[in-house]
Amino acid sequence: MHSLIIFASGRGSNAEAILEYFRGGALARVVLIVSNKADAGVLDLARREEIPFLLIDKKMFSEASLVEQLEAYQPSLIVLAGFMWKIPPTLVTAFQDKIVNIHPALLPAYGGRGMYGHHVHEAVLAERDRESGITIHQVNERYDEGNIILQARCAVSVDDHVESLAQKIHKLEHFYYPRTIEWLLRN
Ligand code: GRF
Repeated sequence: MHSLIIFASGRGSNAEAILEYFRGGALARVVLIVSNKADAGVLDLARREEIPFLLIDKKMFSEASLVEQLEAYQPSLIVLAGFMWKIPPTLVTAFQDKIVNIHPALLPAYGGRGMYGHHVHEAVLAERDRESGITIHQVNERYDEGNIILQARCAVSVDDHVESLAQKIHKLEHFYYPRTIEWLLRN
């Protein structure tokens, strides 16, 4: 059985999709949820599902003790699902090639500092792009620049607004993120 650690700062709908996908199976389970936000929806999910969680602050984030705490779970993957802080070198080095992220656009377009959540969708709509999508990638020390593992696309129509585009993107994310994790675990 593979152990997954999820890092999330928000609602946690991706975390939930991952939990549901692996529920009851023999391949993987979520052993820990890490968040930097005390009021994040993902922590309600952790409480409801009785999954251990860890609330971290900026100081703890780059300390060696965090690496030790995470290593104790022997994770096969650390899955970033809407996690807002840049991963420090201590973690990237300790979990080389084991940290994955999902980005709500087709990288390298609309990536980098400040490009998260609705900012991404606003930028896509402002450019009048006819398509957008998601990127699942490995995490290195630079924002949104690790190796791309998977991209999936959706059409952007002239009537789309931030909310409708966000919905399309979430649908892709909820479908492809768990399945990409499964693929990584099996390969
Ligand atoms: C997702 O759109 C993801 O691409 C981005 O943050 C959002 C998280 O949503 N990195 P949720 O908290 O999983 O609902």
